Amino acid sequence: MHALLDNVVSHFEAVFGRAPEWHAFAPGRANLIGEHVDHQEGCVLPAAINRYTVAAAAPNKDHVFRLWSAPMRDHPIIHPAARDDLQPVEGSWGNYVLGVIHAYQASGIHSGGFDMAFDSNLPIGAGMSSSASIEACTALVVEGLSGTSLSPNQRALLCQRAEHQFAGVPCGIMDQLTVNSGIDGHALAIDCRTLTIEPHQIPEDLCLLVIDSQVRHALADGEYAKRKADCQHASETLGIPLLRDASLPLLQSRKADLGERVFRRAHHVVTEINRVTAFQEAMRNADRERMGILLTESHRSLRDDFEVSCPELDLLVAIARDHGAIGSRMMGGGFGGSTITLVSLHQADAIADSIGRAYRQATGKEAVCHLVRPVGGAAAHSLSPNNHPSLS
Ligand code: GLA
Repeated sequence: MHALLDNVVSHFEAVFGRAPEWHAFAPGRANLIGEHVDHQEGCVLPAAINRYTVAAAAPNKDHVFRLWSAPMRDHPIIHPAARDDLQPVEGSWGNYVLGVIHAYQASGIHSGGFDMAFDSNLPIGAGMSSSASIEACTALVVEGLSGTSLSPNQRALLCQRAEHQFAGVPCGIMDQLTVNSGIDGHALAIDCRTLTIEPHQIPEDLCLLVIDSQVRHALADGEYAKRKADCQHASETLGIPLLRDASLPLLQSRKADLGERVFRRAHHVVTEINRVTAFQEAMRNADRERMGILLTESHRSLRDDFEVSCPELDLLVAIARDHGAIGSRMMGGGFGGSTITLVSLHQADAIADSIGRAYRQATGKEAVCHLVRPVGGAAAHSLSPNNHPSLS
């Protein structure tokens, strides 16, 4: 990560012809279990991981936002820093940045114009929260430049607002909270209703393997919103605020009223929330077999009830199980992206290799295996002696 930070400072200097005043970094996230339940205020068990977006920034006097990104270098953005009427730019990566600036402005926090460069070793669109990490870097820079410091939860809520209003994805709070609040060596049991976080140490002999199918998803294309709408329909029919408030017996008793598809959507959410509790207990008891079973059930539920998987993810999960993984399932929003696979530390490299080989043989495509580690959350540091030294 330090090399990445040095790189982004060099990029900033090359692109903008001066030194940056702030740099910031934000991790990606993996999710052990609790998928597609955060928008129903359920509980989830993600971890911030050691793949990062980094940024360097400095204020300008031109009242514009000049945004440059190494992975998106062909699409630099210059946007007027008009005070209260920032608008999304259709199809632009810059919306994650502009959306955050706008959310802060709406809360009365104004940074003024600035130049900002990004770099990343977090694959984009792979279900590892690259967008939440761009948002967190931006939020920290806005705070640094405006001399404010919000709590990680307040920051996460503003980043989520950016995603809703500028990226068009009505996401839950899991990604933004995780990248802002990560804890070294720990998964975070997040209650997405109360926003309380309970750290759970991940056993040191357990390894998290995130396998990127390289099939790319577009959550903004409406499937995510459709799933959320089905969940809302279910809770309205059941007469409860959100599916977090449903029990399995209640759901079963109203199956006919819900209709087949909406029942399946709700069934996923209710059973997945139960699996999160069961998984935490299995992890505390070092019961690997039970953890594996719960991951398998989670995948099946996401595939058949929530219908957010795709053939490549199903294949990666099956291959992982056949090659000695403790358990595996699709991760994140779905329709492509990555799987999360739990393996024993001493077998991690061998299993990663054999999964990659089997996937190549079956599909002719390359999957990218990331052996990841749980890390701390986003932070920013001033590079100028006149500023407040650091934010996290
Ligand atoms: C995306 C969203 C999250 C969450 C996951 C699925 O990553 O941003 O809020 O809903 O999908 O669990």
